[in-house]
Amino acid sequence: MSRAYLEAIARKLIDEAMVNEKAGNFVEAAKKYRKAAEVLLTIAENNPSDPMSVTYREIANGLLKKARSLEEASQSSIAIQSGTSGSSQNLEELVDEFIVKRKPNITFEDIIGLDDAKQAILDSIVYPTKRPDLFPLGWPRGILLYGPPGCGKTMLAAAVANEIDGVFMQVDAANIMSKWLGDAEKKVAAIFAYARKVSSEQKKPVIIFVDEADALLGVYEHEIGGEARVRNQFLKEMDGLDIKDRNLFVYVIAATNKPWRLDMGFLRRFQRRIYVPPPNREARRALFEYYTRCIKLADDVDFDVLAEKTEGYSASDIRDIVMEAYLITVRELFRSGRIYEDPRPVTMNDFLRVLARRKPSISPEMLRMYEEWAKRFGSV
Ligand SMILES: Nc1ncnc2c1ncn2[C@@H]1O[C@H](COP(=O)(O)OP(=O)(O)OP(=O)(O)O)[C@@H](O)[C@H]1O
Ligand SMILES: [Mg+2]
Repeated sequence: MSRAYLEAIARKLIDEAMVNEKAGNFVEAAKKYRKAAEVLLTIAENNPSDPMSVTYREIANGLLKKARSLEEASQSSIAIQSGTSGSSQNLEELVDEFIVKRKPNITFEDIIGLDDAKQAILDSIVYPTKRPDLFPLGWPRGILLYGPPGCGKTMLAAAVANEIDGVFMQVDAANIMSKWLGDAEKKVAAIFAYARKVSSEQKKPVIIFVDEADALLGVYEHEIGGEARVRNQFLKEMDGLDIKDRNLFVYVIAATNKPWRLDMGFLRRFQRRIYVPPPNREARRALFEYYTRCIKLADDVDFDVLAEKTEGYSASDIRDIVMEAYLITVRELFRSGRIYEDPRPVTMNDFLRVLARRKPSISPEMLRMYEEWAKRFGSV
C-alpha cells in the first residue's frame, strides 16, 4: 500500500474519531484513534529515514493516549465532563501546563558569543518592556530565532525569561499537536487569551515561546489531523497583537532550525528575524574556556588551536567535546582502581582524540542553506 494511501486512511480515521468523540461515543472514538495510531506507526516503520516519521510516531503516541483517556472516561461517566469540555474549566487551568513556573537559571552571561542576536533581543523585547515611552512607534510582537541546531536558540529564549519580570509560556509544537489533537485549536486560543489577560490586568510582559516552530507552523505536504486549522488559529491570534497597542506586552518568540519550512503567512507576522549563527573562531575559543572552567587542565592545552580545529562544530558540540575529554580521565581513574583520588588534568591529546572521532554537526552545505535563507528572508 502506498504511503499517500495510508496517510489518507489515517486522516479519515482521525476525522471519524473526532466526530464520534464530539457526539459522546467514546468507545467508538477510542477504537478509531487506536486504528489511526497503528496506521501512522506503520508509515513510520516503512520510512525509517524520513524526518516526518518522528512526527508521525509522536502523533501516534498522542492518539493512543487520547484513546486510553476516552476509554477511562467511558467507564466512569462523571469523568467525561471536565476533560473535553472547556466550559467547566477556567482559563488558568486550561493553560496551566504551558506556564513555565520555575524560571530556567540561564542568563545572557551564560550564552557565549551571539552578540548581535543578544542585542536584537534587548532592542526588541527587553528595552520596550522597561521603557515603553521610548518606543512611540511600538515594537515587534513576533520574533523568530533561526539557525543551525545546538547554537543557542532555546538558550536565548530561556535567558529572556530570566531577564524580564513577566510570565513565560512555552508551547512545544510536537506536544501540542499530538497531545491535543482535535483540541489544539482551543488550546492555542486559550494561550493567547490568557496572555492578553495577564498582560493587561497585571501590566506584565508575557512571552509565548514556540520551540521547534516548524513542526507547528510549517508547510505540510501531508495533513494529518488538523495542522492547518491550528496554524490558522495561531496566525489569527497573532494578528490580534497590535504592534501599536502600547499597553499590550505579549510577545511570541519562535525558534526553528528549519526556517525554509515556514510559510509566508507565518513569516509576515514575525517582523523580527534573528539569525543565531554557529560560533566563529573567537566564540569557539570562549566556549572551550567556559566549559572547562571547572575542569583541571594540563599546561599544554591551547584554546587557540582547539578553536582553529573546530570550524563547523556547534556550541553544543564543543560542550560535548569537553565532557568527553574529561570523561577519558575519569574513566582512567576508575580503571586504575584509585577511585578516591582526583583524575589527572585533561591534556591537549585528550581533546585531539575526541576531535578525531567526532564530526562537526554543521556542514558547509547546511551553512549555505541558512545564509541563503537569511539573504532572502532574514533581518538583523
Ligand atoms: N551560545 C552558546 N553558549 C553556551 N552554550 C551553548 C550555546 N549554544 C548552545 N550551547 C549549549 O548547547 C546546548 C543546546 O543549545 P540550544 O538548545 O540552545 O540549541 P538550539 O539552537 O535551540 O538547537 P536546536 O535547533 O537543535 O533546538 C545548550 O543547552 C548549551 O549547553
Ligand atoms: Mg532548540
